[in-house]
Amino acid sequence: MKIAVINFSGNVGKSTVARHLLAPRLKEADIIAVESINSDGSQEEAMRGKQFGELLEALALMDDAVVDIGASNVEDFVNLMKQYRGSHEDFDFYVVPTVSKTKQQRDTISTLEALAEIGIPAKKIRLIFNMVELDETPQRAFASLFEYHDSEKNFMLKPDAVIHVNDIFGKIKDSEQSIAAILNDPTNLKAQLKEATDPAEKLRIAQLIAIKRLAAGVTEELNSLFQTLFK
Ligand SMILES: Nc1ncnc2c1ncn2[C@@H]1O[C@H](COP(=O)(O)OP(=O)(O)O)[C@@H](O)[C@H]1O
Ligand SMILES: [Mg+2]
Repeated sequence: MKIAVINFSGNVGKSTVARHLLAPRLKEADIIAVESINSDGSQEEAMRGKQFGELLEALALMDDAVVDIGASNVEDFVNLMKQYRGSHEDFDFYVVPTVSKTKQQRDTISTLEALAEIGIPAKKIRLIFNMVELDETPQRAFASLFEYHDSEKNFMLKPDAVIHVNDIFGKIKDSEQSIAAILNDPTNLKAQLKEATDPAEKLRIAQLIAIKRLAAGVTEELNSLFQTLFK
């Protein structure tokens, strides 16, 4: 399965979704970060046709892939997809994470419009409500997206496609560790905590225990979200 993670907005959770929701649940999925395609120090530069062509070639050699399209590249990506007529068919799904801030919801609607304009069928476009507060419902927090969906029906909206606000993402952002690795780490942290005498060490272990607990909770949420998204 090949999945593009896309949104004109930054900070909606594209990279988080690619790394922690999608890649671990596909067989041998590499994450291709389109942000890093311009890694010759010209981050702000537009994605060129040549690079897009290379991306399509790389995809052709893979069975599973997650392409994380950084916000600054989305516009070029969409334009190149129009130029390379039919290239949108190289992806099985377009996953669009969004958050409830007004600007991000507006950008998300622009993203959904752009995808529809390329000719991507509604059933291939899946929205994720990210960073939903525990006491909030998507219907309330994302009212303008529900309204847009009612009028256009040009994407799939599943009200339970939700990732709640969760501290684990911030805590493991700078580590290479996957959520599964944290969960499966056999270290007996509670025993270590009992034995530790140094307060700083005790604190460090307590923090690891917290992360492990969050990992267990979020794994359940992400498993069921993956089912919801692609069933
Ligand atoms: N559900 C969530 N709960 C808490 N923090 C989150 C959640 N999703 C993403 N984040 C955090 O929000 C920030 C932006 O997420 P990121 O995936 O980098 O967005 P993007 O790739 O769209 O710019 C990161 O610091 C990430 O750890
Ligand atoms: Mg990102």
